Amino acid sequence: MGAPDRYAVFGHPVAHSRSPWIHARFAALTGQSLSYGARDVPPGGFDAALAEFLAEGGKGLNITVPHKLAAFAAAERLTPRARRAGAVNTLAVQGAGLLGDNTDGAGLLRDLQDNLGVVVAARRVLLIGAGGAARGALPALLDARPRELLIANRDAGKAVALATAFAAEGPVTGTGLEAARGPFELVINATSASLSDAVPALPGDAVGPATFCYDMAYGSAPTAFMRWATERGAAGVADGIGMLVEQAAESFALWRGVRPPTAQVLAALRELIAG
Ligand code: ATR
Repeated sequence: MGAPDRYAVFGHPVAHSRSPWIHARFAALTGQSLSYGARDVPPGGFDAALAEFLAEGGKGLNITVPHKLAAFAAAERLTPRARRAGAVNTLAVQGAGLLGDNTDGAGLLRDLQDNLGVVVAARRVLLIGAGGAARGALPALLDARPRELLIANRDAGKAVALATAFAAEGPVTGTGLEAARGPFELVINATSASLSDAVPALPGDAVGPATFCYDMAYGSAPTAFMRWATERGAAGVADGIGMLVEQAAESFALWRGVRPPTAQVLAALRELIAG
C-alpha cells in the first residue's frame, strides 16, 4: 500500500477553513484512504503553489477566495457548470489532465431543496449580490427553474451585467437593492455584508411571512441578515453551513467516485461552529 492520495484547500486566509475537518469525516464515513490539508496561498501565488502540489503527486484541490479565477484559468478542461460559473472551486487530477469544476451552486441547491425542503421551481427568487458568490450560484439556481430570478446589488450596474450574461439561460434580471420590491418566496444573500455584521439595504417588503431567507455566510450565531429576516417575520431562515458541507460532498464525489452521506457531518459541524 502506498501513501494515501493527497488533497488540499488553497485560500487566503485559509486557517479558518473547515474543509479539512469535513473531508476527514467524509473519508472515514466512506472508508476512503486520503489526506487533506490546508495551504495559505497568497494572492498571485496560485500557479506556483499548484505546480508544487501537482509535482508532489497531489490528486485534487478545493479553491477558495481569492483564487477561484486563477483555478479557472489553470484548468485544462472544465465541467459545463464551471464554465458557466466562470470560476473553479474544485480541481481534479484525471487521466486527461487537470479538470476544473464548480460545486458551489450544486451545494446551495442540495442544501435548499434536500436539507431544508425549500422549492425553487416556479418561485419568485431574489439573489442579493453580484460578486463571485452570486455568480457561482446562478447556473444551478436557473437550472432549478424559478419563475423569476432578480439579482439585486448595491452597485446596480454589476447586477445588470451579471443578469445580462445569463439572460439566455432563464428569466433573470438585475437591479439596485432599493428596487428589489417583494414579495419574494426565496431571498438568498450572496453578499459579503454578513462578514462585517451588515445587512444589505433592501426595501422592507422584500421579506415577509411567505419568504424563506438563506444566507450563504455563517458564523457561531445567526448572521445579521438572518436576524433582520427573522425580525421581518420570514417563514424560515438558514445560514450557509449546509451549502459548505454539500459543496464539499460534491467535490469528494468527483474525486473519489463515492458520494459521502452529509447529514451527520452537517449536524456535527453545526455543533463545532456554535462552540
Ligand atoms: P464574493 O466572492 O464573496 O461574492 P465579491 O466578489 O467581493 O465577494 O462581492 C461582494 C458582494 O457583496 C458584492 O455584490 C458587494 O456589493 P457591491 O458590488 O455593490 O460592492 C456585496 N456587499 C458587500 N458588502 C455589502 C454591504 N454592506 N451591503 C450590500 N452589499 C454588500
